[in-house]
This record gives sequence, structure tokens and C-alpha cells, in this order.
Amino acid sequence: MDLKGKVAIVTGAGSGIGYAIAERFAAAGAGICVNYLGYEEEAKALVQRLPRAIAVKADVSKTADVQAMVDATVGQLGAVDVLVNNAGVERSMPFLEIDEATWDLMLDVDLKGAFLCAQACGRVMRDTGKGGSIVNISSVHEDVAFPGFTPYCAAKGGLRMLMRNAALELAEFGIRVNNVAPGAIATPINTKTLNDPEKVAILNRIIPLSRMGKPEEVAEVALFLASDASSYVTGSTYYVDGGMVRYSQPL
Ligand code: BGC
Repeated sequence: MDLKGKVAIVTGAGSGIGYAIAERFAAAGAGICVNYLGYEEEAKALVQRLPRAIAVKADVSKTADVQAMVDATVGQLGAVDVLVNNAGVERSMPFLEIDEATWDLMLDVDLKGAFLCAQACGRVMRDTGKGGSIVNISSVHEDVAFPGFTPYCAAKGGLRMLMRNAALELAEFGIRVNNVAPGAIATPINTKTLNDPEKVAILNRIIPLSRMGKPEEVAEVALFLASDASSYVTGSTYYVDGGMVRYSQPL
């Protein structure tokens, strides 16, 4: 699996899974647009360590920011062959307490952001005639309900159908679209859980492989879907969750 001569945009690459994907794709030979909104220092430090990379600040939920990011990538790195929609936010709130701003935050970043980036990059991939690969980092919660996380689940469930529709409509341009659905991965999004041994113990019980995952383990599957090794794969979700989505309690 390699990405020699290719250029990838990785959103939310200043931390967690996005950071690991940017590192892994660079090691596989790709030029990288490291997108960030928070984690500015981390994003800039990462770019210093990679052979061919730029750091671009952009709020993926804003059309103008997204277009500026795509233009900067084409202008400075010469192309966009791969998009990884990784940027995401997660807040927990009981269903009856959810306010409009909280709902909007998750739908805007986790779902609309992925759409805006896929559309802007899809247009470039179509216009160059070279096609490309779009990989959305969704979650087991594109499928599994998660009490207390309704807007997050609604956004991730939406990302599942966004991927399926985009896969059908973009196939004619040689653009493949797939999701990677991580389970419980040790990253900053899980800080509260990681600091609570009881929660970690519950997670370990419902994960068949009995442990949380590492960002690097998600990056390997993202690399497969980004690279030509998956040339006949489109419209699919790959779970990277230690079997969590298949968890079932014996009687
Ligand atoms: C969430 C984590 C959660 C995991 C498994 C992820 O999408 O970001 O907070 O632990 O799913 O439930």
C-alpha cells in the first residue's frame, strides 16, 4: 500500500486519529494538507516533521474555509487525490436537554463539514480526470445507538448515507468513497473515558478484543482505502473497533 506521488487532505489532523493518518500517509509517500482548527501548534509541528506538507487552518463547516483549503492544497502541493474527512466533535447531553447550538455544532462539523469537503475535493478530482479516494472517519455510532449522544449519532448515521450516495454519484468520475468506523480509540476525544478506570473496564467488557484501539490501527485501514490496494472498493464501511459493533451478551 503506497501513496507515492499523491496528495491527501486530512481534516482535523492536529490530534488523534487525523494526526496518525497524516503521519502514516506521509510515510507512504503522500504530500499532506494537515487541516486544523484547534491544535494549531501540534499541526504546525507535525508539518515540520513531514517531507511534503502544508498546515491549513479551516473550519470545515464553512464553505469559504473549505474552498480556500482545497485551493491552497492544489496551489502548493499540485493536486488532491485523497480526502480524509476526519474532523469531528462530540458532546454528551441527555436527549431532553439538548439545545439548538449543541445540535448544530455536531451536525455542522461531523456531517456538513464532510459534505462540503467531499464536494469541493470531488470537483477537483472530476476536473483533473484522475479520480480519487474519499475516506470518511465515521464511528461505530454510524450504526450503533449511544444514549446521551444523539446529535453525534445522528451526524455519524448521516455520514453513512452521505458516503453511500456519494459513492454512487461519483463512481463515474473514478472517485471511490468509503467509511472507516472506529470504535473506542485512545485519543483526546475520549479524554473523560480514559481518565475513568470504571468506564475503561466497561468498554473492555463490550469490546471482544478486550482493549481500546490505537490511532495507528485506524490509520492502516484508512491507508488501504486511500490507496490503489482498494481499487475495487467503494460504498462500504470498514469497522476498526476490536469487534465492538458485533458485541452481544451470552444468555
Ligand atoms: C466515540 C467515543 C466512544 C466510541 C465507542 C466513538 O465514536 O468518539 O467517545 O467511546 O465511539 O462508543
